[in-house]
Amino acid sequence: MDLSVRIGSLTLPNPLIAASGCFGYGLEYEQVVDLSTLGAVVSKGLFLKERQGHPPPRIVETPAGMINAIGLQGIGVHRFVKEKLPQLRAHGARTFVNVCGSTLDEYVEVCKVLSQAEGVSAIELNISCPNIKEGGIQFGCSLTGTYEVVSAVRKATHLPVIPKLTPNVTDVASFARASEDAGADAVSLVNTFLAMAIDVETRRPTISNVMGGLSGPAIRPIAVRMVWECYQLVKIPIIGMGGITNARDAIEFMLAGATAVQIGTQNFVDPFVWGKVLAGIEDYMTRHKVERLSDLIGAFDPSPVRGDKPVVGTNL
Ligand SMILES: Cc1cc2nc3c(=O)[nH]c(=O)nc-3n(C[C@H](O)[C@H](O)[C@H](O)COP(=O)(O)O)c2cc1C
Repeated sequence: MDLSVRIGSLTLPNPLIAASGCFGYGLEYEQVVDLSTLGAVVSKGLFLKERQGHPPPRIVETPAGMINAIGLQGIGVHRFVKEKLPQLRAHGARTFVNVCGSTLDEYVEVCKVLSQAEGVSAIELNISCPNIKEGGIQFGCSLTGTYEVVSAVRKATHLPVIPKLTPNVTDVASFARASEDAGADAVSLVNTFLAMAIDVETRRPTISNVMGGLSGPAIRPIAVRMVWECYQLVKIPIIGMGGITNARDAIEFMLAGATAVQIGTQNFVDPFVWGKVLAGIEDYMTRHKVERLSDLIGAFDPSPVRGDKPVVGTNL
């Protein structure tokens, strides 16, 4: 059985990647997961300098998901390179770094620092965080902004560049296309959906930032649809995510066109999710006689199921 997948010049032993912000700097999970067995680990989003993030409360549970507005708290790229990267390397982890910036220059600067460090496998360009005002979202919600930041970073680094797209736009596939045109090696999607929840007893917001990003199973069908839309428009690999909890969910994203998948929120529910998803994928491959997992990428057949009668007059 061959579970390996290729993202540009990278070969990952399997398609399972820990999503940014849901797996700390990877090392927080070293007692629980053998980091070398994951396809890759994505770091928490990093700016040039340290950031405090938003004051608590910063997360709230919602039906089948959660809303967060952490505000990109992080240790900054220099501390990451000095304190975290050597240990990640020692664990044999393939490390993707989630790069943030308040300005185009900051994105470029962070990427230059990472290009000179040892042990970074790829850059995931965060142009999609929904809950900070500066930087990311300004680039990620504008096609020219996306093109400009991806091109600038592309010129500044030899590392694979993977822009992470926001679902908070009307046509996400056009942003995948702008990224491809600008020289991206792959795209990842989705980041969280802008959302809010009110405490009706106090009539106050449940989190300090009022609005935050919705993640978890609640968003999965929308994320799958977005991956499928991108798959039809771009040739570069797609890393899909949004509410994956088990092997079935991961395979659904791959059938829709994802080459690899990320698991985020489910880590908070079950940190042992990784082995279970991998075993479930192997089981699926056995049952469906799939020898190479990469054969499933985009293998979704959109034609209507034979024998289905059209459903008229219901909203099912
Ligand atoms: C608490 C929390 C923190 C996150 N921090 C980041 C981040 O720093 N950078 C980023 O690109 N995405 C961040 N995300 C988004 C996730 O990486 C992922 O795109 C999203 O949660 C959807 O996947 P999921 O439903 O599997 O969690 C964060 C999500 C959560 C829940």
